[in-house]
Amino acid sequence: MYRLKSCINIDDLGRLAAKRVPLPVSDYVEGGADDEVTLRHNCSAFNHYQIVPKALQDVSVINTQTQVMGCEMALPFYISATGFSGMMCPKDAELAGVRAAAKFDVLYTASTFSNRSLEEIAQAAHSDKLFQVYVLSDKALASQLNQRAKAAGFKGMVLTIDTIVGGNRERDTRSGLSIPPRLTLKSTLQFMLRPRWLVQYLLSDGANLGNFPQLPKVSMTDSQAFVIALSKLFKKDLTWADAEHMIQEWGGPFAIKGIMSVEDALRAKQAGASAVILSNHGGRQLDGSPAPIELVADVRAAIGPEIEIIVDGGIRRGTDIFKALALGANACSLGPAYVRGLSAGGQAGAEKALEILKAEFERCMTLTGCSSIDQIGSEHIRQL
Ligand SMILES: Cc1cc2nc3c(=O)[nH]c(=O)nc-3n(C[C@H](O)[C@H](O)[C@H](O)COP(=O)(O)O)c2cc1C
Repeated sequence: MYRLKSCINIDDLGRLAAKRVPLPVSDYVEGGADDEVTLRHNCSAFNHYQIVPKALQDVSVINTQTQVMGCEMALPFYISATGFSGMMCPKDAELAGVRAAAKFDVLYTASTFSNRSLEEIAQAAHSDKLFQVYVLSDKALASQLNQRAKAAGFKGMVLTIDTIVGGNRERDTRSGLSIPPRLTLKSTLQFMLRPRWLVQYLLSDGANLGNFPQLPKVSMTDSQAFVIALSKLFKKDLTWADAEHMIQEWGGPFAIKGIMSVEDALRAKQAGASAVILSNHGGRQLDGSPAPIELVADVRAAIGPEIEIIVDGGIRRGTDIFKALALGANACSLGPAYVRGLSAGGQAGAEKALEILKAEFERCMTLTGCSSIDQIGSEHIRQL
């Protein structure tokens, strides 16, 4: 697999990405916590559901239009928050992703940990976007970020709640990856095997975080001061009261990302969230947790129809997205499925990932007899 053109599925994009970025970077994208049991289970859990087609429906026109977080989208999936995109695509970082999302008329989520600032991301494409936040210990700084996101025109906010502490990613420890990347003997050898990436990375603003200009500047030889300052930014004693406060302060569509139980989904509803994102951070945080797809039907039954359910975790095929919708989700969001494309070919690669999933999803709708999103329902799914 040497060219984007020859990639016909998301796994192909992953293989091409591994040839374009250094091993520590592709391990960072593909890796999970501990033994990566949850990482693998997120994907394999989709095999416990079968798609039931409805025969002889008129599917001459397929309409995939839907509404999520108060925004119209051409497809029921969008790009999730992925921090440090400058490692995967040094030239354009997040700008490549947001432009690709705009082209497909789907939402883009800007991570707190973006290398480009939220204002630059907002300017790069005039399409609907979400801003993902972690809770900051400095209330004034948190309010400032909130105001900046509003002023830049972000339509919705996503609060990630599953990263109070970083996951134990052993691939990163073994490959010598630090965030931001540092030149150690081990990593330097890997970086030199990808000279094109290395030149672009050195020419770019590197790993500096666009949303926090106050942090010390990083270089590939010294990032100590940056790492210490960064770790002090985040609140460790986060509670539901903080979430409630943020929902009120934002005053618009608000999703809580990292919900992994019916009880917490109900708590999020009570707190005033307009959406829950069933997610275990792609298996990158707590190993041993269930796959989000396994929770969808129970959460939908408990929280009722008015709150949106968004699902991520293991989505690599259009049929995965169809299954999530048939179980009761409103949409899916993409992590590695998109980042593989971004690493493989920048904006063109990100577009390729969206194009592959769009074609697969539309084909699945056609084969199941569904001509619009609201026709996808529990009659189309069977649990093994
Ligand atoms: C490289 C990478 C960076 C990520 N950065 C963030 C982040 O900054 N904020 C966040 O909430 N989630 C982050 N995530 C998690 C994704 O948003 C998403 O929850 C996860 O990848 C879903 O898994 P899936 O793609 O297997 O469906 C990141 C994931 C990856 C792969």
